[in-house]
Amino acid sequence: MVPTPEQAAAGQAVYTPRMLRLYDILVLGLSNRLIWKCPTAKLLQLYNDSVSDNHLDVGVGTGYYLDRCRFPTDQPQIALLDMNPNCLYATANRISRYEPTCHEANIFEPLTFEEARFKSIALNYVLHCLPGAMQHKLVAVRHLAELLTPGGLLFGSTLLSGGVQRGWPARCLMSFYNRKQIFSNTEDDLATLERGLAESFDTYDVEVVGCAALFRGHRAS
Ligand SMILES: C[S@@+](CC[C@H](N)C(=O)[O-])C[C@H]1O[C@@H](n2cnc3c(N)ncnc32)[C@H](O)[C@@H]1O
Repeated sequence: MVPTPEQAAAGQAVYTPRMLRLYDILVLGLSNRLIWKCPTAKLLQLYNDSVSDNHLDVGVGTGYYLDRCRFPTDQPQIALLDMNPNCLYATANRISRYEPTCHEANIFEPLTFEEARFKSIALNYVLHCLPGAMQHKLVAVRHLAELLTPGGLLFGSTLLSGGVQRGWPARCLMSFYNRKQIFSNTEDDLATLERGLAESFDTYDVEVVGCAALFRGHRAS
């Protein structure tokens, strides 16, 4: 069942301008390394290995990775998509040197891009914020996959509850975030993620680091 707009809104409501000022320190600086056991440097490496000169970033947060990653050109074309205007504003400002375009949209709803036109799409730390069962979240991934040009790559990561090692601090913080509806990942597991990637892409790979799954799905040339 596709989440209602109200349910979808719960996963992004926490990202107020004040929260976004703390996000890089709390999430990227502390939680990734100490709680989720997936250092931010590892995720930045995923960006460096995967990003193209024609990129769509979905669920942009503060734009940390777009600001820090190495694009294969000095003037990449970048589109930003997020349901939350605070995130779009913060990220567009941070990477204004690339003159990104902004698209305020809920990824559960049909996206208005006219054609498959991105060589890379990032979906980093978004799936665990989305409400509903993982197979329904993966429908959104399938729609994004349709926006890839032939040879294109969708990449990202998500925090899982099943099929990964979660220490006591990770279990406690995840359950707190789920109670607050900041996360909705109590049923998310590695096997379902892999099945969804297999259905949406010609080839895919997944690497588990701590309680994060780092994934890449390729569209054939
Ligand atoms: C945890 S942040 C991730 C930020 C960044 N990608 C990172 O890795 O640091 C989740 C992002 O997804 C966005 N988001 C959540 N639900 C969404 C939805 N249904 N449609 C579009 N964006 C959504 C939030 O507004 C937020 O920018």
